[in-house]
Amino acid sequence: MIGSEQEHTCVVGLAWGDEGKGKIVDLLCESYDLVVRYNGGANAGHTVCVGDERFALHLLPSGVLHPEKVSVIGPGVVIDPHALLDEIDGLGERGVRVGDNLRISDRAHVVMPYHKIEDQLSEQNAHQGDRIGTTARGIGPCYADKMRRSSAVRICDLVCFETLEPRLRDIIRAKRDGLSAVYGQQITLDSDAIVASLREAAERLLPFVADTTALLHEAHNAGRRILFEGANGTLLDIDHGTYPFVTSSGTTANSVAPGAGVPARTVANVLGVTKAYATRVGKGPFASELDNDIGDRIRKQGNEYGTTTGRPRRCGWFDAVATGYSVRLGGVTEIALMHLDTLAGFERVGICVGYRLDGREVTAPPAHADQLERVEPVFEMLDGWSEDPSRVESLDALPDNAKRYMERIETAVGVPITIVSVGPERSQTIIADTRTMTAVPRATVT
Ligand code: GDP
Ligand code: IMO
Ligand code: MG
Repeated sequence: MIGSEQEHTCVVGLAWGDEGKGKIVDLLCESYDLVVRYNGGANAGHTVCVGDERFALHLLPSGVLHPEKVSVIGPGVVIDPHALLDEIDGLGERGVRVGDNLRISDRAHVVMPYHKIEDQLSEQNAHQGDRIGTTARGIGPCYADKMRRSSAVRICDLVCFETLEPRLRDIIRAKRDGLSAVYGQQITLDSDAIVASLREAAERLLPFVADTTALLHEAHNAGRRILFEGANGTLLDIDHGTYPFVTSSGTTANSVAPGAGVPARTVANVLGVTKAYATRVGKGPFASELDNDIGDRIRKQGNEYGTTTGRPRRCGWFDAVATGYSVRLGGVTEIALMHLDTLAGFERVGICVGYRLDGREVTAPPAHADQLERVEPVFEMLDGWSEDPSRVESLDALPDNAKRYMERIETAVGVPITIVSVGPERSQTIIADTRTMTAVPRATVT
């Protein structure tokens, strides 16, 4: 049985994704033995920069660049077999071999081609205001089938393809008829092609398939440290995010238990990752958004374009109300503050310290998207800094106004900032004080 005496850690995004989780997971890896994805799927795009090389990981845990670590895709992830194989092949072409270091849960669900078609059809046919702006990776329809059960396909089904095949043909037929009826157009789904390509993918994936739940329990009992890598971001959580403009899985550390198959008390440290400002891709309310020149400038300075879809990210000031909510919700114990470099050169920098709804102050994001859309942000403006901190190596050496800005954020959200990121590279990181790393000297963080 897993207890809490071991320092397992979970890295989660505190906003709407793309906070810089990939960089932090890569950085922390050194102190862990296993890296585990427990939610989402290929909607994630986690960037890791190693020297001049830039890797964008979608389904593979960011630990996969470290061949000595075991990378695990847990039961809570939805796996598009072709996307995963493309990712493995892409890494192989760049000299990163993925072999025995990868384990895929036999309980994880499979994203099928019709899920991606349904994702697109549902977006195209929604009323303008109801469009979620999904990544079109089939995530929502796959999780919907998981809940429906009768039409779901899991990784363990691929092991017994002969049994799966007739059932899969029935499912494809039902999907074709269902989608055609709902969307009033003839949807073509070629059963032979879908079956053949899944069979081919299954053969390649089978060597990676394992009971990862048992694997994690054994790893814990053997005294090994586990790093859980959250995908998406807390405000995209299916239950607690800005519904319905959310993704379809649990994105906080609270979902490690169901998504990885470990007890809820497994995670001792929850490291929340957030930018020094706010961004969002896709639709949905965004209280501190700056739909103006300042937002455009943040986008330009921060190179804010989606890792998975290339879409421009919406930008705004740091939202302490939403971030405080994310901290409380997920039991966040410390924060990695990213992109501090991006804010250099702004005369004034803002923090959203309150929301007003219909003239009244509210202390947490309201449940209804319409209300959240109407919320008026209360900004506190602080003096900015002109010095570029991207080569700064210690907290002390940061510009005074940047330090004041960070202190204000800490007070507003209630947890300490233990990592400050001043650029995309591994070396552009200031580790102030963190339990999540067993003192890795800066010299080794290169
Ligand atoms: P994730 O999904 O949370 O892993 O984040 P993404 O990889 O989608 O997006 C973060 C982007 O910011 C990537 O392009 C990173 O290389 C980049 N990045 C991370 N930290 C910093 C930083 O401190 N400064 C700058 N300028 N870029 C950063
Ligand atoms: P990482 O892990 C940013 C957003 C989509 C859309 C909504 C639903 O890289 O931080 P989905 O395809 O999941 O049904 O889309 O969620 N979204 C993300 N935005 N980063 C992500 O992942 C995201 N994963 C989902 O843009 O608004
Ligand atoms: Mg991303």
